[in-house]
Amino acid sequence: MPTFRQLLTQKLRDAIGKADITVPDGITIEVVIASDERFGDYQSNAAMMVAKAARMNPRQLADAIVTAFDGSCFCEMPTIAGPGFLNFRLTPETLAASVSSQLADGMLGVPSVADPKRIVIDFSAPNVAKPMHVGHIRSTFIGDALARIARYVGHQVITDNHVGDWGTQFGMILHGWKTRLDQAALRKDAIHELVRVYRDVNAATKADEAVLETCKAELVKLQAGDEENLKIWRECVQLTLDQLHGIYARLGVTFDHYLGESFYNDSLTPLVKDLLEKNIAVISDGAVCVFSDGSRKPEQDPFLINRGGEWVPAPCLVRKSDGGFLYSTTDLATIDHRVRQFTADEIWYVVGAPQQLHFRQVFEVSQRRGHATRMEHIAFGSILGPDGKMFKTRSGESVGLLEVLEEAVERAAVVVAERDLPDNDKSKIAEVIGIGAVKYAELSQHRMTDYKFSWDKMLSLQGNTAPYLINAYVRIRSIFRKLDSGGGCPHTPSPSSVAITEDAERKLALKLSQFGEIVHDVLSDFRPNLLAQYLFELADTFHGFYEACPVLRSEGLTRHSRLVLCELTSRVLQTGLGLLGIQTTERM
Ligand code: ARG
Repeated sequence: MPTFRQLLTQKLRDAIGKADITVPDGITIEVVIASDERFGDYQSNAAMMVAKAARMNPRQLADAIVTAFDGSCFCEMPTIAGPGFLNFRLTPETLAASVSSQLADGMLGVPSVADPKRIVIDFSAPNVAKPMHVGHIRSTFIGDALARIARYVGHQVITDNHVGDWGTQFGMILHGWKTRLDQAALRKDAIHELVRVYRDVNAATKADEAVLETCKAELVKLQAGDEENLKIWRECVQLTLDQLHGIYARLGVTFDHYLGESFYNDSLTPLVKDLLEKNIAVISDGAVCVFSDGSRKPEQDPFLINRGGEWVPAPCLVRKSDGGFLYSTTDLATIDHRVRQFTADEIWYVVGAPQQLHFRQVFEVSQRRGHATRMEHIAFGSILGPDGKMFKTRSGESVGLLEVLEEAVERAAVVVAERDLPDNDKSKIAEVIGIGAVKYAELSQHRMTDYKFSWDKMLSLQGNTAPYLINAYVRIRSIFRKLDSGGGCPHTPSPSSVAITEDAERKLALKLSQFGEIVHDVLSDFRPNLLAQYLFELADTFHGFYEACPVLRSEGLTRHSRLVLCELTSRVLQTGLGLLGIQTTERM
């Protein structure tokens, strides 16, 4: 089902052709959602853009376009505003037909992509035996939402959790495991205990040089394949994964693969050899590095950084002088695997902004190795506490995902406890609302914003929050419950014969139709917050409609049409929240 934006853009292009207007190169003729609904539903600055490039009078050009425009019964005659804006208004018949077909469409009016791609999405990727930080929380929610949306529009998505299961932290963990592990605590909460051990040993290394040396020796033994250390390492990874699976299940997040860093261990030596053979990397001070090849402007060259006004080399290290491999080496091997084994057309990395240079370098090295795959670093900012400083939990520690979820559900339970609901439903509802609230607080922000984490705000029933949106859904479902208990009426109204007459109905129908446009907009710049904002506006528009237009107290075609609008709104809310990874509940 094409969207209104696509249909109007086509009509506008046809009119421009019919009026014999030549569009200069570099100008795209497009129609967008109107910025001010008083002037129309959609608008275009095409006449102004063309006029400017061709040195013509924009209003005259706009006049010619309007004369040639064939709106038929689809939209009214376009109007011209200001210096030459074209405004379009859809007819009530068009809106009514759109509501019907959207409800009948399994995709709710979201067109599928014309050229589906195979996309590997790399997100979450916490580190074994190191604290999971807020960056992993953001990555998990954004990555999951993007995966759901990309799948929905028809891409073939492969999610891969590149868990940090092979790093220098294991030196400390091995030493700590052997000397200060609390078995009972480990069985209770493995991640927590491993992090405690890591922190403990880390502190000890600062106080005592000898401890640091012991840790280093343990790491060397592990890397050399020592049986005992490998066994401990395997157990740490397994315990962490077991616990992660539980957290992801609670979040409704799934991965097709868990190919952690260690999976690539055997590929690193041949990879570095290949880089050297192809002269992509060179040996410098005993280390293997990739330098700038001078093919780019310094500003765009990932192997140069500006220090005090001067461009100096910032090589990408792939093997240290002691023979050890690095994070970059593993990522290069990972790209090979994704390109060759997964035949990926695109790879998306949902990782915090501080790793920007790392990805620019790795992408560039991969290009030099001949990979044509599109690679995107989808970066994000930090989460701040209510005081504007780094976010901490109640107990004052840096935040782990599990603690956040537990506190969110606990707080949601307090809200739910006051409501008139069957007792056995309450904990399920608190879970949906608590987890939904945390996810939505994340996904409603532009990903690059450093946003403040506020329990009160995210759990509020008012404002741009998950509880508000879930509540809007619940209210609509309650209309249908009343209807059902009245007897005789079908639960789902048939999408046929809808009439749009009132202004509030028109606004709601238009908003609903834009779902298909917004879902695609999210992917053009990886911004789930556009969908969140849309759902919030939809809920608002629905409330305006519900106040202005009685549903159950109306009759005949009016009542039927309004029930269709209600049904469609609830489905778009539920599906839209679902694309953000947020569940709904029938009551709250
Ligand atoms: N484990 C890394 C970290 O915590 C994130 C990994 C992201 N993915 C990747 N392919 N580098 O920072």
